[in-house]
Amino acid sequence: MRIDILTLFPGMFNGPFAESIVRRAADRGLVTIKIHDIRDYTTDKHHTVDDYPYGGGGGMVMKPDPIFRAVEAVLAEAPGTSPFIILLSPQGRLFNQALAQKLSHHNHIVLLCGHYEGVDERVGEHLVNDEISIGDYVLSGGELPAMVVVDALVRLVPGALGSATSAWEDSHMAGLLEYPQYTRPAVFRDWVVPSVLLSGNHGEIARWRRQQAILRTLKRRPDLLEKAQLSAAESRLVAQTRESQI
Ligand SMILES: C[S@@+](CC[C@H](N)C(=O)[O-])C[C@H]1O[C@@H](n2cnc3c(N)ncnc32)[C@H](O)[C@@H]1O
Repeated sequence: MRIDILTLFPGMFNGPFAESIVRRAADRGLVTIKIHDIRDYTTDKHHTVDDYPYGGGGGMVMKPDPIFRAVEAVLAEAPGTSPFIILLSPQGRLFNQALAQKLSHHNHIVLLCGHYEGVDERVGEHLVNDEISIGDYVLSGGELPAMVVVDALVRLVPGALGSATSAWEDSHMAGLLEYPQYTRPAVFRDWVVPSVLLSGNHGEIARWRRQQAILRTLKRRPDLLEKAQLSAAESRLVAQTRESQI
């Protein structure tokens, strides 16, 4: 997978992408991440990337020309691919695990980070394929949202988590929260790890984990259960648990 990020603040990506899973995936050649400074695509001597909004009002708006040029340069660098171009925006479609899974099937993604009051509307209308928001709040720029999207996508690239771990049991992958996790010691300050996890019986452990994932989702995020795929027995467990709570 190739990811190009267009930003006015390339330095913000140094730390997060130089560590942990994203760094490992890049080192192994599973993902190529390129950061582009939108300012490099300006044509005036002051490298102007923003201007006053037509119609008045506070703040500045990012100009369309450097953004279009930056995207066109990325397209020219990777001929033959047709990247999926995303504008990070608080007005976009809400990012979640299902969307991350969908995006992970693209082999080339371009992330465009806005700043100031946002970007000229013609970018959204004529350049990008989608607008994505990471939550119903407003951040100062699209850099942190781009990092969130990259991290969520890279985890899904086969091999990125290493052979021992898999993203498939993570919360939200199957519409449920993940089951509780424990590690050594088996007893910590009198709090004991559930005995089934020490039993060595893999069938029992898998059943317990599935049940715990369902009960935990019911307790913390009952809205998710509306779409989760449950067996008849699991649906009965949910109904009984709900009744017992009334
Ligand atoms: C201060 S915001 C602009 C907000 C804009 N004036 C509005 O009210 O919709 C500047 C940039 O930060 C990014 N941004 C802010 N909040 C975001 C969010 N929740 N999700 C994705 N991007 C966000 C976008 O790229 C946006 O163009």
